[in-house]
Amino acid sequence: MDVKKIEFNQRNNTTGKLTFLEAKRDIPFEIKRIYYVYDVAKGERRGFHAHKELEQYLICIHGGCTILLDDGLEKENVLLNNPSEGLYVGPGTWREMYGFSEGAVLLVLASEYYDEADYIRDYSQFKRYITDKEA
Ligand code: TYD
Repeated sequence: MDVKKIEFNQRNNTTGKLTFLEAKRDIPFEIKRIYYVYDVAKGERRGFHAHKELEQYLICIHGGCTILLDDGLEKENVLLNNPSEGLYVGPGTWREMYGFSEGAVLLVLASEYYDEADYIRDYSQFKRYITDKEA
């Protein structure tokens, strides 16, 4: 599966914590877009899509949520509840986000501008896309 959890740089001391990430150094792609998901009501689930080309880093900068990842063969659930951790999600990965805690903020760094044509929003279409790619 083309996903990887990574630990960002941290500078922590008794007064508080600081995490930083630098373009091209900590994030391998050029960041073209940043968005964040927040105020997600308890029990709600989001995502339900894969991307053909887009690469992303997901960082839960406040609170926690769980990401379901699916490459068409295997499924994995990753808890994000640490602002100094990022989850790389590569193209061809179906994702769903759930279990948002109260006040959770999920920050996303993306390699491309928003492009609906890059989305696969139908699960059976996603499965076909993966099978066709492997053939
Ligand atoms: P969507 O991708 O469905 O959100 P999630 O994956 O969290 O469920 O996006 C919700 C709406 O916002 C949809 O109409 C597309 C739009 N949108 C943009 O216009 N620009 C963006 O950068 C993103 C991520 C979404």
